[in-house]
This record gives sequence, C-alpha cells and structure tokens, in this order.
Amino acid sequence: MKSFVVLISGRGSNLQAIIDAIDGGQITARISAVISSRADARGLELARAANIPQIVIAAVPGQSRDAYDRALIKQIDALPVDFIVLAGFMRILSTEFINHYPQQILNIHPSLLPEFKGLHTHRRALAAGCKKHGASVHFVNAELDSGDVVLQAEIAVQADDTERSLAQRVLQAEHVIYPMVIQWYVEGRLVFKNHQLFFDNQALAAACLWKNQQLVLPQA
Ligand code: GAR
Repeated sequence: MKSFVVLISGRGSNLQAIIDAIDGGQITARISAVISSRADARGLELARAANIPQIVIAAVPGQSRDAYDRALIKQIDALPVDFIVLAGFMRILSTEFINHYPQQILNIHPSLLPEFKGLHTHRRALAAGCKKHGASVHFVNAELDSGDVVLQAEIAVQADDTERSLAQRVLQAEHVIYPMVIQWYVEGRLVFKNHQLFFDNQALAAACLWKNQQLVLPQA
C-alpha cells in the first residue's frame, strides 16, 4: 500500500476529509505522518485523534527557507513516503525541496487557478466581481501555485455572498475534490511522461471539472 505525508499549518479540515476518505475506503493508501509548520495547528489534534504520528517542524527565527526545507526533507525521507500532500501548508517551498520530490507533491488552492494565486482568494474573487470561483488540486512545481492542475471545483458566486459564505462553499468542495485526486494518483491514473500529465492514458490538456456535484472530463 502506498504511503504519504500530509503537510499542514492550521485548521486541518482538508486533512480530516482525507482521513475520512481513508477510513471510508475511498483512498487506498495510508498517511505515515502529519507534519505541521506550527506547533499550535488544530490539524495536529485531528491527526492525534486518528492515531497518525504528528511531527512539528517550526521555523527557527532567522532560519533560511533552504535550511527549513532541508530539515523537512530529512524528516520526510526518514518515513515511508511515496508522495506528499499539502493541505493548508502555508509556506513557500524551495526549488530544492520541489526537485527532491519530482511530480510527487499535490496541493489544493482555493481559487480557479491560474486566477488568484496567493492569499485572500475569496475576498479578491468577490472584489473582482467574479461569477465563478472555486478550488484547484494541482501538482506543485517550482513556481508558486503554478503546476499542472488536475481537477477544479467550480462554485457559482451568489449576489449576497460574503467572503465567509463563499469560503465555506469552496471549502466543502475542496473536501470532495482533494480525496478524489489523491485516489487517482494512488491508483496510478495520473502519470507524467516527458513532463506531460496523462489521466487514464490521455494527455490532460485542461483540468477536469467538478461542477453541480458532477465530474466533467476535458474533451480529448
Ligand atoms: C484551504 O482552503 C486550502 O485550500 C488553503 O488553505 C486552507 C486550509 O484549510 N490553501 C492555500 O491557500 C494554499 N495556497 P484547512 O487547514 O482547513 O485544510
């Protein structure tokens, strides 16, 4: 069975969705550890409750990104790990880290990438008057929020949406699409050949879409 680590920094609701998907048999892999960049992350309690080893690697003041990431690599490489899942891990990873795990790092970001990279995505989508917003599961490459997008959840923005109400609906969708993509990866349905991503042996030219509770695959 494949193993993975989940990297978190906070609340851990995506972590919980992944744990639930493992418990429910939707993900057929195991979490070897949850690693948090913060000692006070609530997600650590969720890991504890699920009997998953918890590791805190907090940044030391003045420590460089490279030094932090090397400590992270050392820790991850001491575990049985086939791939890495970022679930609200609020640190930018160094090129060294990313290159150490080529095409083995998944992330979820609360926007329809390439729109709204970075922080405060819901606020920015509302301010821009977007009719659609959502979340994206993507592979991580050396550029922030820029790797191949596998699946996006599309949410209609409502006239009376607040940052909070929109964030809540997007988060619910995140909890659906992240376990889905993790299992695709576990089953070997997502494969890179010559830097091109294939899904079920078809080159993935555009992201798959999760819309109105349905999966829409891109046209071949
Ligand atoms: C999620 O909304 C996730 O998409 C976002 O942080 C939140 C973590 O929530 N990630 C990013 O913004 C990464 N750029 P959680 O701790 O409850 O899973």
